[in-house]
Amino acid sequence: MAAGFKKELTSGDPLFEPLLKNRRIALVFFENSTRTRFSFEIAARHLGAGTLNFSASSSSVSKGETLSDTIRNLEAMQVDGFVLRHPSSGAADLITTITTKPVINAGDGSHEHPTQALLDMFTLREHFGTLKGLKVIIIGDVLHSRVARSNIYGLQAAGAEVGLCSPVTLLPFDPSRLGVTLFTDLDCAIAWADSAIVLRLQLERATGGYLPSLEEYSFHYGLTDDRLERIQKHLLVLHPGPINREIEISNHVADRIQPPGYSKSMLLEQVTNGVAIRMAVLNTLLGGISPA
Ligand code: CP
Repeated sequence: MAAGFKKELTSGDPLFEPLLKNRRIALVFFENSTRTRFSFEIAARHLGAGTLNFSASSSSVSKGETLSDTIRNLEAMQVDGFVLRHPSSGAADLITTITTKPVINAGDGSHEHPTQALLDMFTLREHFGTLKGLKVIIIGDVLHSRVARSNIYGLQAAGAEVGLCSPVTLLPFDPSRLGVTLFTDLDCAIAWADSAIVLRLQLERATGGYLPSLEEYSFHYGLTDDRLERIQKHLLVLHPGPINREIEISNHVADRIQPPGYSKSMLLEQVTNGVAIRMAVLNTLLGGISPA
């Protein structure tokens, strides 16, 4: 379904059936977002749905209203579905016990970000044709990353092999239970992989004693042209965004979408694919009819 939506989206003059006409979708974001929030909004509008934008700072949450009461009140206004981003792991799961309406997790704490993983997998499948047997290395701050967790589960379910490359302080507890290949040396990880998902170093948490310094992190775990050239490895590069330029990824690697070079950046392609994936998710969950 997402492939059909993408074809129309990138046609230059997209025109969609209003499959979600008269539906009202609440975009409930308790955390900042650029890509996820706007792509859900664009996706909903393409399908003819109305969107209600909620931001915690301008709502009654600032007066102490709970998440559960917020959802109950929105539901009482006859909202048809919720897209929730929340800093607490498990928040989306919690509100499925409050409402009977579809709830889409747009990122909960350091737990999961399912639609990001779907768009990453879609991007990889578009490029490689299949995910079966594909080797994907996830580089960086796995400990705090909801994107990493959703990608590990999704990619493995689709038959890909997943590797993690991270300082040990930024790995989750007992990573062996995840069924992944572990690397601490980035050169070895790159030599192993077909593609890399580079994670944002969560600078807001990096002060917690996880790293000696940003310079040292960048030296050992930053994806740069020099490193790729030294290993002579061509790599398809994904990053969920937002990026810390010249920390986890160099400008050249982040911005190179054409040869020559040892990498191809999919960062903006991922963003386009995010709209198509979120259209497919909304259409599936809110009762639309599948397009041809
Ligand atoms: N990838 C992602 O979730 O980006 P935003 O935080 O901008 O939504």
